[in-house]
Order: sequence, then C-alpha cells, then structure tokens
Amino acid sequence: MEQKLNRRNWLRKGLLTLGTVGAAPHLFEGAFANTPLQLDKNNNIILSPNAKEYLINSEGLPKGIFAKLNANENPYGPPMSAQNAIKEAVVGGNRYAWKEMADLIGKISKKEGVSPDHIMMGPGSSDLLEKVAIVLFMKGGNIVSADPTYMSLIKVAESVGAKWKAVPCKNDWSHDLKAMEAAIDSETKLVYICNPNNPTGALTDAQELEDFCSRVSEKVPVFIDEAYLELADGKTKSMVSLLGKKKNVIIARTFSKVMGMAGIRVGYVAALPSFLEDINKITRGGMGISYTSILGATAAIDDKEFQDMSIKLNAEAKEYVYTELKKMGYSYIPSYTNFILFPINMDGKDMLKKMTEKGVGVRAFQIQGKNYCRVSIGTMDEMKLFVKSFGEIS
Ligand SMILES: Cc1ncc(COP(=O)(O)O)c(C=O)c1O
Repeated sequence: MEQKLNRRNWLRKGLLTLGTVGAAPHLFEGAFANTPLQLDKNNNIILSPNAKEYLINSEGLPKGIFAKLNANENPYGPPMSAQNAIKEAVVGGNRYAWKEMADLIGKISKKEGVSPDHIMMGPGSSDLLEKVAIVLFMKGGNIVSADPTYMSLIKVAESVGAKWKAVPCKNDWSHDLKAMEAAIDSETKLVYICNPNNPTGALTDAQELEDFCSRVSEKVPVFIDEAYLELADGKTKSMVSLLGKKKNVIIARTFSKVMGMAGIRVGYVAALPSFLEDINKITRGGMGISYTSILGATAAIDDKEFQDMSIKLNAEAKEYVYTELKKMGYSYIPSYTNFILFPINMDGKDMLKKMTEKGVGVRAFQIQGKNYCRVSIGTMDEMKLFVKSFGEIS
C-alpha cells in the first residue's frame, strides 16, 4: 500500500536518506519543496516510475558524521576570496543589493556571452527551477524529462498541476533524446534536461543535445540544468550559445558546485528576455539573495585558481574511488560530476544504515529494480574513509 507523507510528518517520523541526522531536513527540503511525498510500504520515496530513494529511521543512529558525501557539495569551499568579500560586505547589509546584483549580472553576462537582460539571479538555482515550474505549470500542461533525473523542478511542476512524462534513459544512461522528442505533445510546456545528469553522473552527447535543443525549442522551451558542467572534464559544452540564435532555451547554473558556495546560495538562469519577463510578471528573480552572498559570488566568479583546484582535486579523488571500487569488484557509471552512482549487491536501506553508523553519509537509490549507492566526491581523506567503510560493510 502506498502512502503520502508531508515534510513535517517525515521529520516527526525521524526518517532520513543520508548521513547526519541534523543535515537531513535541509537537503530534503531543498530537493522537493513541500510536495507530499509518495512512499511505498517500506517507507521509501517513490521518485518516478523507475526510481525510488531509500530512507532509514534516524532513531538510535550515532550523531557523528565524518565524511558528508550525500549532497554533491564541494569540500574545499567557500573560496578564501569569497569569504573575505562576505566579511567586508556585512556592513552594507542594511541596504538592498540592487546595484551590486547588477554588477554581478554584468560579469555573468560577459562570461556567458549574452546581454544582461538574458540573466535572472536566484538564491541558488533551485529557486529558479521552482519559479519556472510554478509560472509555466500553474495552468496545467505536461513536462517531459529523462528518468532518472534531478527531481526538483519536476516535483514543483507536479504540485501545481503538471503531468510528468518520464522518458527512461538509454542503456548508457544518456538522455534518450529521440524518445523525449516523440513524447512532446500539444500540452507540453517544457522539456527538462539535466546534463551532466543527477543522480547518474552521465553525460549526453553535446552535439546531439545542441541539435535537439535547436529543433525542439522552436515548439516548446527547453530547460538545461548545467549544475555540474565545469566538472565534466571538458567533455561537454554549455547550451548558452543557442540564446545568440534566439532559441527558447533556459540554462541554469549554480555557484554551489565548482565554486564551493552551496550554503551561500547563489545561482542564475540565462534565457531569452521575453521568457524572463513572463517569470518576472509573477515572481521576483534575485530578490531572495542576500547582499553578502552577492558580493561573495562576485569574488568567487573571478577566482579561477579556486575553480581549477576544485576540478583537479575532484578528478583525482574520483579516479581513486574508481580504482578502489574496481578492486572490490564493483562497476560504476562513468561520472562527469562530483559524485559516482554504482550498483550494489545489498539492500539499499541496509547499506545506508551501515554507512551512517560508520559516520559516512551517502545516498541509496533503487533504479529499474536495482540497488545503487551515490557517493559524492569529498577530499581524498574522506574518500579513503568511504572506501574503508564500504569495504567493511560489503
Ligand atoms: C542538477 C542540479 N540542479 C540544481 C541543483 C540545486 O543547486 P542550488 O540550488 O544549490 O544552486 C542541484 C543540487 O544538488 C543539482 O544537482
């Protein structure tokens, strides 16, 4: 029997998907807003026709967490340049940050090669995913996306009345663009693409994606979530150049990953000014970001040294985990992000509980009937602890 559980009940029941008891609610809220959760009879979240996420009961678990590898955060941030800028900015916090935000938008628009009216800021890209979902789907319609994928925009769209058309990923976990195009009908208001994808870490070929976006955006807007783009080892490219051709694409970027600022909350979308005007009629982009965060982001965007270091250390630690997983007899989905999804031959809930008991936070999914662990890439020391702990429980 399936049941629905809202966030408050979920907290009361002490269920968690991840490492720290204290951190669980924040991650969870960020991912799914206040949409009632669909749970199966074993209290796992039903994410999609193809995927579930395992929850464990937090009661009785140790409270310490030594390696927090459950939210794809950057272990090296925030960059020192941003920390200093934030400290200095505090005294300006009695003012709204309109001018400072305009300056940051100026920098972003130069970086993206578009004019400033193509950029909308938000406190993290989640805010903009949600705003787009609310505005586009408040009168119904359907959304087409891959399954599995990142669920934030889709869950909010569903909660305001959208139908979700979930298109299974291909065998190599890339987007099945042909099937997605075929799924579009007269009620489709948006196509959502996450590239590289979460939770798989897989990449969809840039040229195929560009052709798809170019063609499909003539009929319906295409939203491309590029949260992990910089961590893709240079194997893909942003779809932002399509805006120069007046294509109706929306590109979401975040300061939370390569720039190490997940808790500072800054993100943006690049889209056609006419699309952003529609979002702005009902919501206020940028209003939710603090003065300090804007100045932190303004410093971080120029801190190439920090970004390059993050990319290098992430690649090294990821390679280490690949090697150790292979030694332990595990396969994995090649990742173009800062996390790895790999199949496990044990119960997902059990794995989550045992790893949590060892102070290592990871995520556990069931996808197409198989159990998977998703581990974020932390520091080399954290990954050594993950490998040691995982070796002990498997
Ligand atoms: C694919 C994807 N998009 C968006 C986000 C949200 O990021 P933020 O709101 O921190 O910018 C995440 C967070 O993990 C993500 O994985």
